[in-house]
Amino acid sequence: MRNLERLSTGIRGLDEILAGGVPEGFFVALVGMPGTGKTIACLHFINAGLALGEKAIYVTTEESRESIIRQAAQFGMDFEKAVREGRLIIIDALMRASSDEWNLNLVTVEEMLDKVIEAKKRLGLKARRLVIDSMSAFWLRAPVKAREESYTVKRILAKWNLTVYATSQYAITTGGAFGWGLEHIADGIIHFKRRIINGVLTRYIIVEKMRQTPHDLRAWEIAIIDGKGLVLLNPLTRRLEDEALPEKVSRRIKKVLSGEGQ
Ligand SMILES: Nc1ncnc2c1ncn2[C@@H]1O[C@H](COP(=O)(O)OP(=O)(O)OP(=O)(O)O)[C@@H](O)[C@H]1O
Ligand SMILES: [Mg+2]
Repeated sequence: MRNLERLSTGIRGLDEILAGGVPEGFFVALVGMPGTGKTIACLHFINAGLALGEKAIYVTTEESRESIIRQAAQFGMDFEKAVREGRLIIIDALMRASSDEWNLNLVTVEEMLDKVIEAKKRLGLKARRLVIDSMSAFWLRAPVKAREESYTVKRILAKWNLTVYATSQYAITTGGAFGWGLEHIADGIIHFKRRIINGVLTRYIIVEKMRQTPHDLRAWEIAIIDGKGLVLLNPLTRRLEDEALPEKVSRRIKKVLSGEGQ
């Protein structure tokens, strides 16, 4: 779509596979297993805005504000300065005991939305990006609420001119989300995955949905590099199924599929 304004993800290769970036006002779900790069992708998104002179809001539920600032610093992003200068508000839902005005007392969707709106009013028009990392924390005890509350979050935030990244974790054991919901209401889904390939932890992402966008459908291998952050390497060329099977078995399957084995 030519007339859609797009926001950079802060990850060059990712902007390209999204036909230029995330359409303004979209609600994008970043989903996947632990340690796959969701938080780091969020840092890039925020940093891209700050670099353009925007302001931004980051809600962190599983890591403290300090942890987010430290992680960003490892990739050359100065969040500490942005917070100090009033360009970035990090709403902390983990360190609840502290009396900081941007800490949440209760981990509820309602309180989180109130704080986000307060932050948006404080930052004004220049605040265009919001990260909620992660939404799963709100539904740990009540996964059934996920769908209804995801809808509420999207509906309420739609009035505030924010482009939103919301992360959601998939359990290691089942591969399932802690409550389904985000995926259905989201305008876009970026799935973060991992797999052991030749004895090495390989991470990759797939854009599973991005409305109004002719996006790339391939799985892209990613790397997380100290001092730099998340980079897209190349599309996974071999089928993942091939990688998981012993060489002999995958050769046999290929033969059968190509008709040679009959
Ligand atoms: N400075 C660094 N240099 C290289 N790799 C790093 C660095 N910092 C973190 N990583 C890698 O990034 C991973 C964490 O990524 P991230 O926090 O984005 O995961 P996540 O998908 O948000 O996980 P979770 O669902 O648990 O929050 C670490 O496990 C590590 O492999
Ligand atoms: Mg994370």
